[in-house]
This record gives sequence, C-alpha cells and structure tokens, in this order.
Amino acid sequence: MSVRPFDSSLDLDDAAAILAARHRGDRLRFPILPASFEDESVVRQSLQETASFATGVAATGTEGRLTGFLLGIRRLPSPGDLDARFTTPRSTMMFAHGHAVSEKFDSFAAYHALYTELAQDWVRDGFFDHVVHVPAGRSEQPWFELGFGRHFAVAARGLQLLSGEVTSRIEVRLAGAEDVDCVMELSSSGSSFHASSPIFMPDMHRDTDRAFKEELARALVDEKQAVLLAHEKGQSVGMLRIAPARGSAMFLPDKSANIGDTAVVEQSRRLGVGSALLRASIAWARNNGYEHLTLRFHTANAQARSFWTGHGFEPVMYHLSRHIDERILWAREDSVG
Ligand SMILES: CC(C)(COP(=O)(O)OP(=O)(O)OC[C@H]1O[C@@H](n2cnc3c(N)ncnc32)[C@H](O)[C@@H]1OP(=O)(O)O)[C@@H](O)C(=O)NCCC(=O)NCCS
Repeated sequence: MSVRPFDSSLDLDDAAAILAARHRGDRLRFPILPASFEDESVVRQSLQETASFATGVAATGTEGRLTGFLLGIRRLPSPGDLDARFTTPRSTMMFAHGHAVSEKFDSFAAYHALYTELAQDWVRDGFFDHVVHVPAGRSEQPWFELGFGRHFAVAARGLQLLSGEVTSRIEVRLAGAEDVDCVMELSSSGSSFHASSPIFMPDMHRDTDRAFKEELARALVDEKQAVLLAHEKGQSVGMLRIAPARGSAMFLPDKSANIGDTAVVEQSRRLGVGSALLRASIAWARNNGYEHLTLRFHTANAQARSFWTGHGFEPVMYHLSRHIDERILWAREDSVG
C-alpha cells in the first residue's frame, strides 16, 4: 500500500463509492442516519466540498486503485473565540465524512498509513492535539490502536414523547432578550461542572464570555432558535438551547434540531428539571417542523450520559482525540535544545 496526496481530479469517484458503502453499513445499525448519503453522487458532492479546503491523503493498492483516504484540517481558534471553549489551540480535526477504507482491505493498516502521513506534518508544525470523528462501532477500533480515545459522543433520537411523570412544580418558558444574564449564569453552572473531575474541560469564560454574550444576545431574538428556561418557586433552575442542527450532514438525521448548552443548577439536579426542559424542547421541535434531535455530550460526563441515553438518545458518532507529548520536538536527535 502506498500513500500520496488526495487528488480530487482522480480520487473523488472511488472515494465516494468507498464512503457510501461505509454509510450503508452504518445505516444498518443506525437507520436514523440520513438515507441520502447511501447515494454515491450525494457523497461525491460532499467530499468535493470538503476536499476543497481540507488536507487529504489517499492510500492505493498494487494496481494504483484507491483503498482509503483521510481528510483533515488544522484549527487555530483565537483565545476569545466561541470555538475556544471546546477546541484546544493548535489542534487538528479529521471529518467523519472525510475518511473511509474499502471493506476489502485491512482497516488498521490503511488508517495507520494514512494517519502517519498527515500526523508527521502536523506534529512537525506544533499541532499536538489530534481529533478524529468516527461512526460509532467497529470503525473506531483502528483509531483506538493508534492511541485515540473517546471524548465526545454525538447522539440522536426522534421526537417521540418522553415517558414518565410530568412535574407541575417546574415551569418552562422561552427566554427573551431580557434574560441574557440569567442564561449566562445558568450556562456557567454547566461549565463549572464540566471543569470538575473526571471531565476536566477548562472553563474558559474569562476569555470567551464576551463572544458568548454577543452570540447569546443574537440567539435570544432569533425565531429560528430557542433558549428554554426552567423555573421552580420563582427561581431559574435550568436552561436548554435548541437550534437548527449543524455539522457533518452524514450524521444528522433528516430535519434535525440540535440541543446545545443544557444545565440545571447543582441543588436542583435529579429532580426532574432536565426532563421538563427536554419535554419542552421536543414540543418546540415538533412545532417548528423538525423530526429529530441531535446533541453532543462528553463521554466522561456520567450524568449527561445517563440522562440523555436514558431518554432515548443513541450515540451515532464519536469524537476521538489523541494528545501527542510535546517533548517529541525538543527530544529529537537534531534538536538544538
Ligand atoms: C444532565 C442534567 C442536565 C440532567 O438534568 P436533571 O434535572 O438532573 O435530570 P432529571 O432529574 O430530569 O433526570 C434524572 C435522570 O437523569 C439521569 N441522571 C441524572 N443525573 C445522574 C447522575 N448523577 N447519575 C446517574 N444518572 C443521572 C438518571 O437517568 C436520572 O433518572 P433517575 O433520577 O430516575 O435515576 C443535569 O444533571 C446537569 O445540569 N448536569 C451538569 C451539566 C451537564 O452535564 N449538562 C449536560 C451537558 S451535555
């Protein structure tokens, strides 16, 4: 097997055939994923777009036939950007819809060869955090062997109603522009929780609050999205954001709305507030023409995992990540340090 740069003028047809075949396999396990990506021409178009801005490598077999490919980008968020809340500086990301290996080949050998090529340039240039988005299930194994581990789960469900009791003491309403500070405070209780052990996601609010407040102020007056607030005895005790879903279209069920920041203040957790917010978000999604919900949770967040999967969300994709020990650069033989 040899590896060379991905060439859109040569590789798009074969790459689309390999990726569409992977998606057909994924849909046998997750019928909720969109059927449209079983069609090679739809996949080809999406790949063409991704390859126009990503760096790509292609693996070929003995007769020069494509056996697999991998497309990724470098990410350099500014410290104050909203993205900096979830993206480490100088990281890289390989798209779930930007890699696949033909079923006829050894997937570990192919991904090993492809990642070797991309990773050596990234590490040389000081990009030490590598992220790959991978369909849930057997596609993850080669990446585990390469030193990656789960970080976030991307999960989906339909709009079926929740079972269980509706708690009348909790009221849920739509937030408006005047609620911006209250929403910021509730969101910050979620960020503090994510900063605690064993999740350890840094709470970067000192850097990102300004961008977050501006974005929130826009969201609160945007009819296409909603911030839901839960109240108990006149106190705000929880929030949930919902908006049109974005991201890898191959992993977004048709007509999906995405649930973003969700947080219940510590003293009110496990008393039905989160469920009341989810009920209201299902109603909002139904009223706004959606058919599915998606969201993302940190796999080390036991509360979120049990809350979302207990309410019917099924992980369909994972964000796997690997941190390379920075000492690799100065410990090299040719390093002057
Ligand atoms: C996750 C969260 C929003 C759930 O809201 P909530 O009001 O606590 O949830 P509810 O009381 O409606 O539902 C409780 C159910 O969730 C699950 N759950 C919630 N906390 C749990 C915990 N600590 N351990 C295990 N299961 C838990 C259980 O299935 C539970 O049902 P049960 O009490 O009958 O066992 C809330 O716990 C929270 O804000 N956590 C911190 C921030 C966060 O993780 N946000 C989600 C980011 S994706």
